[in-house]
Amino acid sequence: MLNKKLEKSLNDQINAEFYSSYLYLAMGAHFEAAGLPGCAKWMQAQTQEEWYHGMRIYRFVLERGGRVELKAIAAPPARWVSPLAVFENVLAHEHKITGLINGLVDLAFKERDHATNIFLQWFVSEQVEEEAAASAIIGKLKLIGKESGGLFALDNELGQRLFTPPPRAQA
Ligand code: FEO
Repeated sequence: MLNKKLEKSLNDQINAEFYSSYLYLAMGAHFEAAGLPGCAKWMQAQTQEEWYHGMRIYRFVLERGGRVELKAIAAPPARWVSPLAVFENVLAHEHKITGLINGLVDLAFKERDHATNIFLQWFVSEQVEEEAAASAIIGKLKLIGKESGGLFALDNELGQRLFTPPPRAQA
C-alpha cells in the first residue's frame, strides 16, 4: 500500500508526464507548420513516449492500492523562434523532469518504500537517455547553423523515429 505522501507525489508526476506529452504535441504542431515534418514526427513519438510514462505511473499507483487523481494539464507554449530554441526547451524541460524523478526517489527512500524505489529506477535511466537525445540534437543544430541543406538532412533523420513501448507495460 502506498503512503499518502508518495501517492500525492506520484499523482503529481503523472500530471508532469502528461504535460510533457502535451508540450511535445505543441512542438510537433509548430514543426508541422514550419515545414519540418521529420522534426514533427520526432515530436509525435516523444508525445507517445511521455503518455506512456504517465500511464506507467498510473498503473503502478493502482497496482499498489493507491488512488489516481488526475489534475488539469497546463497549456504549453505554441511558438518558438527557431528549431534550436525548440530543442533547447526540450532539454530544459527534461532537466526539470529529472529533478522531479530524483525528488521522488529521495522520498521513496525516506519513506522506506522499496517497491516504489525500484519502480522509479527505470525512470532514472530513462532521463539519462532523454537528456542525451536532446543534447545530441542541439549539438547538430548548432553545427548546422543557418545552412538549410543540413537542416533538411537532420529533419529527414529525425523523421525516422518511431515509438515502441517496452514489452512490460502496455498502458
Ligand atoms: Fe517522461 Fe521526458 O520524461
